[in-house]
Amino acid sequence: MKPTAIVYTSQTGHTWQYALLLGEQLGLSVYALDEACAKLSDGSPVLYLGWLHANHVKGYRAAARRFVLCAVCGVGLCDTGALTAEVRKATSIPESVPLFTLQGGMDRSRLKGVDKLMMAMLTRALAAQKQRSAQDERMLELLGKDASYVRPENLAAVLQWYREQGA
Ligand SMILES: Cc1cc2nc3c(=O)[nH]c(=O)nc-3n(C[C@H](O)[C@H](O)[C@H](O)COP(=O)(O)O)c2cc1C
Repeated sequence: MKPTAIVYTSQTGHTWQYALLLGEQLGLSVYALDEACAKLSDGSPVLYLGWLHANHVKGYRAAARRFVLCAVCGVGLCDTGALTAEVRKATSIPESVPLFTLQGGMDRSRLKGVDKLMMAMLTRALAAQKQRSAQDERMLELLGKDASYVRPENLAAVLQWYREQGA
């Protein structure tokens, strides 16, 4: 099913940027989740984007309660296309719902209190691990610096999926 709107949850802006890029490319309106709940009818088909927090797509459950999620994008520090199995499991996203991961970025100045603390804990825990996967190594490197990796080309798989949905 083709989405009729884009709905997102973002804390520091990277997910919002991807939502805007998709809105432009697909000619769809873009709403923050709260705004969507007020403005869109229950059961509207939407493309949902949420930032990744401990492999969980933020806002997924609330969005899935209100809308039909045609596809879900998790925006995190992981590489675009990585960790989809882990994110699907942690968020309990059914296999029938297409899931994409997109590399966002880090802006520590915009993190809220608890998340700032969690970030520091995550960094310490990763640094203390004796054996780290390549993805862990990369995450550790990216956690330590403020940067944006939002790129239009990261949306290629999502756009391909959208085109395959037909009319
Ligand atoms: C507390 C915390 C936990 C995070 N957990 C993950 C994670 O499990 N996987 C990941 O790839 N990125 C993780 N991140 C990175 C964010 O998902 C990333 O910074 C994202 O771009 C934030 O999106 P936003 O700018 O839309 O808020 C975490 C960030 C914070 C603050």
